[in-house]
Amino acid sequence: MKPGEAAAATHPPQPDFVSGAHIDAAAYEAMYRQSVEDPEGFWGEHGKRLDWIKPYTEVKNTSFRMGEVEIHWFRDGTLNVAANCIDRHLKTRGDQTAIVFVPDDPGDPVRHITYRELHEKVNRMANVLLSQGVMRGDRVVIYMPMIPEAAYAMLACARIGAIHSVVFAGFSADGLANRINDCGAKVVITADSAPRGGRKTALKSNTDAALLHCSDRVRCMVVKHTGDQTSWIQGRDVDVLQLMEHASPDCPPRELASEHPLFILYTSGSTGKPKGVVHSSGGYLAYAAMTHEYTFDYHEGDVFWCTADVGWVTGHSYIVYGPLANGATTVMFEGVPTYPDAGRMWQICQDLKVNQFYTAPTVIRALMGQGTDWVEKYDLSSLKVLGSVGEPINPEAWEWYNAHVGKGRCPIVDTWWQTETGGHLLTPLPGATATKPGSATKPFFGVQPVVLEAESGKEIDSTEAEGVLCIKDSWPGQMRTVWGDHDRFQETYFSHYKGYYFSGDGCRRDADGYYWVTGRVDDVINVSGHRMGTAEVESALVAHQAVAEAAVVGYPHEIKGQGIYAYVTLMNGVEATEELRKELEKWVRTEIGPIAKPDIIQWAPGLPKTRSGKIMRRILRKIAENDFGSLGDISTLADPSVVDELINNRMNRG
Ligand code: WTA
Repeated sequence: MKPGEAAAATHPPQPDFVSGAHIDAAAYEAMYRQSVEDPEGFWGEHGKRLDWIKPYTEVKNTSFRMGEVEIHWFRDGTLNVAANCIDRHLKTRGDQTAIVFVPDDPGDPVRHITYRELHEKVNRMANVLLSQGVMRGDRVVIYMPMIPEAAYAMLACARIGAIHSVVFAGFSADGLANRINDCGAKVVITADSAPRGGRKTALKSNTDAALLHCSDRVRCMVVKHTGDQTSWIQGRDVDVLQLMEHASPDCPPRELASEHPLFILYTSGSTGKPKGVVHSSGGYLAYAAMTHEYTFDYHEGDVFWCTADVGWVTGHSYIVYGPLANGATTVMFEGVPTYPDAGRMWQICQDLKVNQFYTAPTVIRALMGQGTDWVEKYDLSSLKVLGSVGEPINPEAWEWYNAHVGKGRCPIVDTWWQTETGGHLLTPLPGATATKPGSATKPFFGVQPVVLEAESGKEIDSTEAEGVLCIKDSWPGQMRTVWGDHDRFQETYFSHYKGYYFSGDGCRRDADGYYWVTGRVDDVINVSGHRMGTAEVESALVAHQAVAEAAVVGYPHEIKGQGIYAYVTLMNGVEATEELRKELEKWVRTEIGPIAKPDIIQWAPGLPKTRSGKIMRRILRKIAENDFGSLGDISTLADPSVVDELINNRMNRG
């Protein structure tokens, strides 16, 4: 059955929810129409939700024309992102909690950081950065646990105009080194170690290993978090918390252009090394804040919890920037959903009286597998809206989330977006949109999705359509370029389908005009909501001396959404043993990080290739999916017999 073909129940917004919501169905229609008919007028008005130092007069200046792609929003305006997230709230809500920090160990105290305290910490951290010679436009890599200091570091950069690049703590030393080098970071901020689920990742020692491959001018700022012993290099390593104590609590926010880059975030594509996605200040912040308010129907005083890691875009937009720009109370959780037990998330929702809860389908499926007792045990009556992000949510998980977490009363917002988009592009608005389990429903304001025929690139006009998902015009949260490589930016997103932004996702539009994102049409896979390029895993594998060739594909995985299936051809004379399999798994963990470890390695004496030597991934995908009855035309293969060999020894027989 195709997505959307199920006799899916439609869930209309409930009347008592609608009456208190920011946007109802009529308001959505009217605002959406205005947003696409008159983007200048619409965004000119909504850009005012930020405090500008110098107000903009130009709203939109964008082109999707291949060769001339440029994206500018609010270009002549100036502002400071940190001042928008902190300073402007001090008068009215200085004593309100900005960040609630929930440590990994349930025995450790929860910390409430007020806006006033956040202001002081960020200023001190900003002054420490200045004292280390960090200047406007310099890059700062942040490799941290999920602790408030990670948010302080991001905001401190924003305050002085440094560009941060957060690297997920699950990446290895090599992954970290590549990112430090690609963006030419002056400083890396890390911590001694990161506890998660009772286990620790040695961030400082990973950083030490990474810095062996970087310029020796890169400074290392260390937050002593767990107090674990680490090595210490005099002259290079500095103790951040100690310096913060002595630093001044005043650091005036710098006036910055709207288009000044706020951050770089590396993400995987179908080819080559990860790309540094560059986001702006004004457009990004306006979009993150507006989507946060409307998608989650956020109201003053609500406690908002996004369970993502700040190492991903979801953490940037919906733990830090969106909520803080709106003066919200945002929850930062250091741990994992199943530690010390599968009730942890629900306990936190109960204890903190969380109002909006935003997580990934993989988390829902994992907790669903633990039974309903864990969730029934806690009082979840504070919840108002539930969100989902990262991959298509299967209707079973949707229904479970709705019945057991939301008790049938909380609208579910399935938000489709990407690192590149800065914020939600397709999403229900909880007071306006009737939801259908598994559909990200309708576009957010200003977003013009189109479905194109994959081959011809022709736009499909009929309401019902199936093809690739593209966007017709710019929105303020859109990425501006690939760090250091504008050609790659144009090539990746604007060259396949001329005049459109190409998302890389396939989708279907149903008779009601609802969008059903079906997954990537390129060689990107989505493992537990973590985005990965199969090419990256392949190049890690072939870097091992025993490996001659490798091909990596995704396959359906009950909990993770997709698992990593690697076909590996060994060098002549190398024996395929269990030890070698283990060693290759470990190798990939070290080369990229634990999230990239293959779930399945199949030894492949040969790979299916065309006569010109191109690997036919379509066939490998089918075999990995245990669906080899319909392999299609294999007559163009140089040696069709390798296919039988691979089928006979396939490792997913589920
Ligand atoms: C997928 C995460 C279906 C999609 C914010 C996209 C989704 C990629 C959804 C981006 C959703 C994200 N339904 N698919 N609600 N949300 N995706 O850059 O394939 O880590 O292209 O951004 O995740 O992943 P990224």
